[in-house]
Amino acid sequence: MAKPMFLRQALWHFRISLAKLLVGSKATSPHFAFIGAGSTGHLCSRIAESGHRDVLVVTDGPLRELGLADSAVAPLSAKGVRLHWYDGVKPDPTFTHVREGAEALKSGNATAVLAVGGGSSIDAAKMIALMAEADSEPESWVGFQKAPEDAAPIYVIPTTAGTGSEATMGAVITDENDHSKNVISGSAMLPRAVALDPDLMLGLPPMITAATGMDALTHGVEAYIGRWERGTRRETASMCIRGVFEWLPRVLAEPDNAEARLGMAVAAYYGGVAINQVNVGSIHAIAHQLGSLYHLPHGVANNMVMPHLLRVYGPCAEAKLTELGPLMGIDAAQSDAAGRVIDAIELLGVNSNLPTTCDAISKKDYPLLISRAVEESDGYVSPRLLTEGDVASVLDRISA
Ligand SMILES: [Fe+2]
Repeated sequence: MAKPMFLRQALWHFRISLAKLLVGSKATSPHFAFIGAGSTGHLCSRIAESGHRDVLVVTDGPLRELGLADSAVAPLSAKGVRLHWYDGVKPDPTFTHVREGAEALKSGNATAVLAVGGGSSIDAAKMIALMAEADSEPESWVGFQKAPEDAAPIYVIPTTAGTGSEATMGAVITDENDHSKNVISGSAMLPRAVALDPDLMLGLPPMITAATGMDALTHGVEAYIGRWERGTRRETASMCIRGVFEWLPRVLAEPDNAEARLGMAVAAYYGGVAINQVNVGSIHAIAHQLGSLYHLPHGVANNMVMPHLLRVYGPCAEAKLTELGPLMGIDAAQSDAAGRVIDAIELLGVNSNLPTTCDAISKKDYPLLISRAVEESDGYVSPRLLTEGDVASVLDRISA
């Protein structure tokens, strides 16, 4: 049974105060981003210079078959580093993937983990790196900052621009038993260094480009409108939002434009830097349930939910949404600037050819979707707590 709102409010404020006390003044660990064409080579040099002789590469089957993963890490072999592979990651990685990858890590005596791929490979790689030192089961790490404090060093070469996982200390892992999506976080999960190389993203299919791009935008928006003022979240979220509005239409029109691909890679990275400070929000809380139950791709689900939940928030998000106007060419002094911002976000998703409704959503699933979304949202510093009615209202709007 759902907790009464007064109790949720009290627990929510307590958790926010505790988070501010525990991590509010902490800087994140040293982290480097190599940026631009050829930056994968610089990252490989850094890994080799750090003394690693055996490295586990974590990727997915299609990237391996295309030869993209092998060519990205070829500079490591050229420097005499032995490569070990786990290429079994699938979309929405599971604890089974984590265990399989950990076996490959241990059997190869690898001392570092290098993710090549999208968010699924990056998240799996972080968990596999934690398994190197762990004496507990990964299911027990679910929750805020519950991951072990030690991990093998993690390096990342993203091949999509959206997840931001290359800049965060979190991962989302699916539990095959109940299909739930579980957030695991801890400072050891922050990658040591990343390469944002547009050459690896040229020709990425339009649907993946659009969906991951709108995921990045969701990160920027949720980090900006949340109620926790911390670090550089306003500045980095702004750079993400401005970048997505500038480069996503361009990259969809010109998939082989390296400048536009780099613009999106940097925007997505800044979205990751922003959420690494204040986390995502309740758009993700609802979208994760749609991913779990209907296997909607993460960015597609976020894009579907975002404009509706922003409208549901009403006055509590209005001032911050208004501030976002100039990042997308909207005069903040105009009447109803916040509404225009939401309209612009919605239009960007539509113009990117992403679906706005989902046939699979069924009324019989509402109780499960609502209870899980509300429970997850209680862990975020969104503009306000979600009510069950808020979630139902969003679901009504995106049901076909
Ligand atoms: Fe996301």
